[in-house]
Amino acid sequence: MRFSDSFIQEVSERNDIVDVVSGYVSLTKRSGANMFGLCPFHSEKTPSFSVNPGRQMYHCFGCGKGGGVINFMMEIENLSFPEAVETLAKRVNMPLPAEEQSPEGKKRARMLALNKEAARFFYNQLKTDVGKPALRYMESRKMEAQTVKKFGLGYAPDTWDSLRNAMKELGFNDFEMHDAGLVKKGRNGGFYDAFRNRLMFPIFDAKGNVIGFSGRILGDGEPKYLNSPETLVFNKSRNLFGLNLAKRSKAGYIILVEGNVDVFALHQAGFDSAVASLGTSLTSEQARVLSNYTKEIIIAYDNDGAGQKAAQRAIKILEQLDLVVRVLQMEGAKDPDEFLKIKGKDAFQNLLDRSEGQIDYRMKKIMEQYDLNEPDQKVAFLNDATDMLSDLPNRMASEVYAGRLAAETGISKDVLMNEVEQKRKRKQRSFRRREENNMHPERNAQPAKREFRYEDVRSAKAEEGILRLITRDSSVLTYPMQPAGEEFSSAELRTIFEAMKSIVAEGRDITTASLSGTLSPDQMSLLSSIDNKPESMQNLEKAWNDYTNIIKEQYEIRSSGEDLLALRERIKKKGDK
Ligand code: UTP
Ligand code: MN
Repeated sequence: MRFSDSFIQEVSERNDIVDVVSGYVSLTKRSGANMFGLCPFHSEKTPSFSVNPGRQMYHCFGCGKGGGVINFMMEIENLSFPEAVETLAKRVNMPLPAEEQSPEGKKRARMLALNKEAARFFYNQLKTDVGKPALRYMESRKMEAQTVKKFGLGYAPDTWDSLRNAMKELGFNDFEMHDAGLVKKGRNGGFYDAFRNRLMFPIFDAKGNVIGFSGRILGDGEPKYLNSPETLVFNKSRNLFGLNLAKRSKAGYIILVEGNVDVFALHQAGFDSAVASLGTSLTSEQARVLSNYTKEIIIAYDNDGAGQKAAQRAIKILEQLDLVVRVLQMEGAKDPDEFLKIKGKDAFQNLLDRSEGQIDYRMKKIMEQYDLNEPDQKVAFLNDATDMLSDLPNRMASEVYAGRLAAETGISKDVLMNEVEQKRKRKQRSFRRREENNMHPERNAQPAKREFRYEDVRSAKAEEGILRLITRDSSVLTYPMQPAGEEFSSAELRTIFEAMKSIVAEGRDITTASLSGTLSPDQMSLLSSIDNKPESMQNLEKAWNDYTNIIKEQYEIRSSGEDLLALRERIKKKGDK
């Protein structure tokens, strides 16, 4: 579904970026026009995430992400553009345009509302005497109130009609409850509660809607779990238990386990990136969903034969998607929940850190790219391999692997370690330099995203200037001297330039809302970093003409046969030899 520009515009105007961001980041420091906080998109200790209330834009000087309020929502909640618009519209109680409410859309919305009420009902039982059996059970399994609340666990009372009656009160009818899998139809034609005397785990989708339930028996008995059937809103092969929480984790990997209880126990112990695959073995759809959130999966399945077999299957599926996969070997416990109880969280962290599988895996991938019988390929391989080892946070691990590498290639371990150490130092230096630059963003010549790196920096800087001037005062587009799109050296900057021109040509304003409909999130980030650099607006036309002249000059140079940049590169290379 597509929203009109005016709707999108209104949604972004009514959602003040400072309010929205403050829901996720505490913005404290103020410096100039910007407010600062710790970036929610990468982990950091000193705030480099800025929000500019005047321009209604955010930008992180550390990771380079940025844009308007819609981009922020897309990024932080992992939503598509229309989903982000919808969420923000709801946030300020703006009704969605009528065409959105198709009959099916209405039915879905109604079922989600019912599920949410049911989850609330189950949760509320824990606060009364009715919920005592569940509370006792949770206590026996060391499930803490705070985590219970985070997961929204609840209790389905040991009766045939509690939920049904409560939902009726709220205006839902039997057929709606039946479609949602919350009641069953008896032989006499009446309906009764499907979940009775069970600990209820609501299942959320990534957006935070309750899409179904998984009910565990209190104690032993069969069946151990009862699950909602597939419904209009619940597709088991596409969702994962815990993903709504895990997607916000900064761990950099996702821990895949078998049981709901394992997910719960891991989150409770601070491992906030655990998910489970809803009782089925991992499907390729679930794997694809995971790959939207992470590049690395750590499998921590049960320690029994079935668990290990399931792990092998999961590895195959995950590797097809080019995900890095590690498998935890838990000794002395049948599953992560039990492991945490017996050995504690430090021991689990230790298992995570023993990342042998992953280093081997990466080494293998690097090795595959080279023919080690060719001397210069061997040199290139060693270069890549030592580079990888220099990234390992643990020096001991680099030692171990350098030793192995030495044995395999016949190069002495000392030479390899020497190289690793040099690379490590070089990286630390450039890391420090980067940190310093982050405090002085104007010194950054290159965009944060590597794919966008400028080939012709002189021209690109001028192109950036052009874009900056347009965002500040689009009347510059009426000046007699104009750069042409094809004269731009950077494809990304050209795309942004063309997008701005067509927005102005349509008589619309250049705003984050009008732009984020056309530009990709990465392009918005690039634009926000450009926009964040200072620009003098005193002599607008002169600035505009200067930038335009540079762009035209560089374009001439680039298109006149002997490319100066290439020439410079060639001369430099000769010097290196
Ligand atoms: P487990 O039997 O390992 O359950 O099944 P668990 O969640 O770890 O619970 P505890 O720790 O033994 O109490 C793993 C998953 O398989 C699905 C559930 O999603 C469960 O979390 N399952 C299991 C079912 O759907 N139905 C069942 O009868 C059993
Ligand atoms: Mn289990």
